[in-house]
Amino acid sequence: MPLFYNVIEAAAHRLSIVPPMFDYFGALALHALVAAARLGVFDALRERPLTERELAAALGVDPVATGVLLRTLAGLGYLRVRGGRYRLSRAARLWFTTGSPTSLVAGLEFWERTACVIWPEIERAVRGGAPVTPFYALLEGDPALSRSFQAWTAALARRQAPAVARAVPVPSGARRMLDVGGGHGLFSVALLRRHPALRATVIDLPQALRAAADHPRLTPRAGSFLEDDLGDGYDVVLLFNVVHGLTDDETAALLRRLAAALNPGGTLVVGDQFGDSLMPGRASRALLHLLDLNYLVAVGGKVRGRREIAALLRAAGFRDVRHRRPLRSPVTELAVARTPSRSAPRRA
Ligand SMILES: C[S@@+](CC[C@H](N)C(=O)[O-])C[C@H]1O[C@@H](n2cnc3c(N)ncnc32)[C@H](O)[C@@H]1O
Repeated sequence: MPLFYNVIEAAAHRLSIVPPMFDYFGALALHALVAAARLGVFDALRERPLTERELAAALGVDPVATGVLLRTLAGLGYLRVRGGRYRLSRAARLWFTTGSPTSLVAGLEFWERTACVIWPEIERAVRGGAPVTPFYALLEGDPALSRSFQAWTAALARRQAPAVARAVPVPSGARRMLDVGGGHGLFSVALLRRHPALRATVIDLPQALRAAADHPRLTPRAGSFLEDDLGDGYDVVLLFNVVHGLTDDETAALLRRLAAALNPGGTLVVGDQFGDSLMPGRASRALLHLLDLNYLVAVGGKVRGRREIAALLRAAGFRDVRHRRPLRSPVTELAVARTPSRSAPRRA
């Protein structure tokens, strides 16, 4: 939520004069945000500021209750109020209006359901060391949840893909690319636009491919990257936001299979959040640990540091591991590695 403590509030929290109420009310804030987006509050305020009565009439909802919701949203930083009229804050306009190119609205159901279904299982996941309800099994039986999850990942990818595509070193003469767990396919599409001779195969679970991008040089392939044959003869492999959902053993095995699937001198790109190259600050660290906990309880995975990823890549036979942080790609950094070229002597 776009909410910041002032100096006195920060001191009160630091000295524990007040209990950490946002731990409880953070959940309420998520549900208020979801309700507002679903009721159409943000879209209705996109054109012009409105009073609570005007907004309630436009949405056909109760005016008194609307006032309560609007004041809550203003308190959280999603709305501003002046002269009794509410208008969108920059954050609400960018992220929570449906027409915005960076809209996260279609992904809100995913977070709402995660908060209600997955996160209550943290205690059991910590007792047992593994997720209680594996997330992808849940998606398989729930098309609406699957659509919302794909919409969330696609919204982030849409924002990051052009910068990521500029940072991926595609070998000259490259023809074939494999996008592992590529889902919506938007990272592939951004690379296809820059490299007209390239063709891409996106391998993902059937439910994810329902929303895959349409491109004449992109082939969606339903299957499991853990179990099915991945093919061979690729020049580029993308592994974006996938290894954080895998155990160390699964990651090591997948990287070895991808090294074998690539041509000599081929490029593998891991795109993910790296735990050791973070913006400094307690809030960023806390967010990273929450993300780690989310991966544990949802998919049995974890956040890895770039050094850890580099070690896994080298152990799988990759070379020249480099780290890249594309500007305009705030949540996806890259580890780029190559398979040895045919003439290069083998190194451990
Ligand atoms: C976090 S999403 C990342 C999607 C996309 N690569 C991106 O970065 O936006 C992880 C993807 O891996 C897919 N996935 C998970 N397990 C899989 C498996 N065993 N085989 C194929 N795809 C899988 C999911 O369906 C999902 O689309």
